[in-house]
This record gives sequence, C-alpha cells and structure tokens, in this order.
Amino acid sequence: MPLSATRGQPLTGRVRVPGDKSISHRALLLGLLARGETRISGLLEGEDVLATAAACRALGAEVTQDGPGAWRVFGVGVGALAEPREVLDFGNAGTGSRLMMGVVAGHGVTVTFDGDASLRKRPMRRVLDPLLKMGAEIVSESEGGRLPLVLRGNGDPLPIVYETPVPSAQVKSAVLFAGLNAAGRTTVVEREATRDHTERMLAHFGARIFVEPEGEHGRRITLEGRPNLKGREVEVPADPSSAAFPLVAALLVPGSDILIEGVMLNPSRTGLIKTLREMGASIEVAETRGHGGEEVADLRVRASVLHGVDVPAERAPSMIDEYPVLAVAAAFAKGETRMRGLAELRVKESDRLAAVTAGLAANGVDHRVEGDDLIVRGGRVRGGGTVETHLDHRIAMSFLCMGLASDEPVTVDDATMIATSFPDFVPLMTRLGASLKA
Ligand code: S3P
Repeated sequence: MPLSATRGQPLTGRVRVPGDKSISHRALLLGLLARGETRISGLLEGEDVLATAAACRALGAEVTQDGPGAWRVFGVGVGALAEPREVLDFGNAGTGSRLMMGVVAGHGVTVTFDGDASLRKRPMRRVLDPLLKMGAEIVSESEGGRLPLVLRGNGDPLPIVYETPVPSAQVKSAVLFAGLNAAGRTTVVEREATRDHTERMLAHFGARIFVEPEGEHGRRITLEGRPNLKGREVEVPADPSSAAFPLVAALLVPGSDILIEGVMLNPSRTGLIKTLREMGASIEVAETRGHGGEEVADLRVRASVLHGVDVPAERAPSMIDEYPVLAVAAAFAKGETRMRGLAELRVKESDRLAAVTAGLAANGVDHRVEGDDLIVRGGRVRGGGTVETHLDHRIAMSFLCMGLASDEPVTVDDATMIATSFPDFVPLMTRLGASLKA
C-alpha cells in the first residue's frame, strides 16, 4: 500500500508512542523462561512482537491478552521448553528470531526458524557462531547461514567467554539466553556498549548477572547459569525509536510544538536526542521519572532551525535504528552532516544505507557515501519522489516525515511494514496535524 505525506499545518498536541520493541520481545521471552506468572503492561502489539508471543506459546508458555497492552505469560522455567510441532515464523523480526535462537540453543529441542523475505536475507551467522561453540547444532540452513534454518539445541550448553565481533545487542542477548541453562558462568565482552535491556531484565527476573566496564567504551557481562527465574511484573516504557518520528517531524514542520509522553531515556538509546540537540533542536526533557526500571520523561519538541554536525562512530550503537530519520533531519539542516561508522546499517530490515541514499536521491537531496560514512548536505528539500521501502518500517516512516516538510509531497511505495513496530503511526501523526494519504 503506497502512502504520501504532504506539507501542511504545524504539528501540535500531546501523544504517547507505543511500548519499546526491544523490551517487549524480552518481556515475553523471560516470561517463557520464568516459572509462574509474568504480567506485562504497555506491551507493543506490533507484528514483530506478536510473532515472538506466538513462538513463546509454541515452546510451551501460556500467553494471553487481558486488554490493550496488558498480557500474561505462564512460563515453563529454564530447562523445560517443549519442542514445537510447527515452524516458528518470526515475520520481519530480527530481534525476535535471534534472541529465540539463543533460548533454543540452550535447550534440548529442535526448532525450525523462518521469516519474511526481508528476514530471510539477514545474516544469522553472527548469532549462530557463538551458539555452536556452546553446543547447539545447525541441522539445515539456507545459503550463507540464512533462514529458513533448523537449529538443534543442547540441553547442557557449555558456558563460554565470548567477545562479540560486531556491536550487537542481539548477539549479546542470544549468548546470555543460551547461557541461562549452562552449568557455570557465561561471559560476553563487547568493545562498544550496546543496549542493556537483556541484562536489566535478567536481573529483574532474579538472575545473578555482573556488568563491568571493558576498555574505553565496552562492557564485560557475566551471567551465572541455571538461575531460578520467577514470573514478575514488567511495565514497558514508550519506545524512543518510535518517538523519533513525531520528534523529527515536529522539528522540521515550521510552527510545530508537541509533547511526547513518557519516552524511555535509557542512556544506551539516547544518541538521536543528543545529536539533534547538537544540531540546534529544541527538545525539552520534563517530568523525568522511573517506569519499569527505566528512566522516562516527557519530551517537548518545537520546530527548530537545524545545522549540520559530525556524528562520531562511537555513538552508533546508541542510535543505530535512528539513522534513517536523522538523515531526513540532516536533509533540512544548514550545511553538512557526517554520520560516521554506519556499516551495521547494511544488515538491518533492509540495506538501510542503500535505501536511505536512494530515498535522498529521489527527493533531490545532495549526499554522498564515503566508506561507511554518510554525508548529507542539507537546506531546502524539493521532495516529489517515490521511495522504495524494501519491507523496512523505518525507511517508510522516515521518508513520510520528510514529505511533511518538503516542497513537494513524498510517497513511499509500501507502508504496510509500519505495522511491525508502530501500528498506530498514521492515526497518531494525523492527530498531530500531519497530512498522510493513501
Ligand atoms: C535490537 C538491537 C539492534 C537494533 C534492533 C533491536 C535489540 O540490533 O537494531 O532494532 O532489541 O536487541 P543489533 O543487535 O543487530 O545491532
């Protein structure tokens, strides 16, 4: 389904974006691995997370919905997964599939993993390599370690020390999940610290987990195996990666003034806010408070004149999903924005570096790629282009934000994937005053 965004009135009003996707996946997985009842509020009910819920059911948990965002999981406990009869289809979700590979790798079950055309293209070796070291086996796989693949877990996995070769919270989390059923300590070393939701949630469910600094930007995480995880309450805070879209749109549409309620400000996720502020964005952080073990705050965002900045590579893990929308902001900023160290963007839901540059080109934005850096020369944006989204929700939402401020409307060829992470994107943006039309 194509969708177009047209420049119009200022964006105004108060909104709440859906629950954090990373935390939602982890809440369900830990619900499965804990004994007893886990109650979740604020769960993201996007397609990615619903696929994880279905997979948890297939592995033996009872998963029920009590109301909007309110879910209950009766878990089976570490070591007690049931072998599913069906293929586990994760749709578009890299996080759900990779984290579940970790869970399965540490249990004596054989599971077939599959997904949509986008997920079938994504590299799984980065997760499988450490899981094989822990004793899991690949029964069959598609070329280059891709889905569909059949993974045979090991009910007595080896505890390992593993240094992640790429900064990836998914790889780290998969190893820790496999280590839950290991007799001993599993350690993950990361040279660049990535989002720490798995560590926080493991501790919340009763695991013993230790985190130490490693080098200048890294961490060493050690988990004691075979904990007795108990069902808990989990409150999922609003997703900063979804808040990024109304936030950038409000900065770009002249006269806008919006409030986004209760956005999670975990320091491993706030790179975009930091960068936009350096660019001159007016983002006020108010009513900072605790919510479900995380700091959240209301963000007041007012339209701002932006200027180009140099975004260091070390910041990438804290804003990895936000580069498409940052590139859109940079297109309207005066001067040049250099985003460094974007190699990981090539293996997201699409090759995001290619999808972003194609979208910028289609809308007349001056840009270039040098190695792994993207350089955007901003100013006035002509728009008028049609952007190919390649089954990538964030490419769709980012370029719709562009169209709200460009001279001519911007069209995305297919907006259906937005439902994977932000099912209410169109009504929410429309409530703020955005003009989005099929
Ligand atoms: C996620 C980690 C990131 C991110 C993804 C969610 C997670 O992926 O891009 O959207 O919840 O662990 P990588 O681990 O591949 O960087």
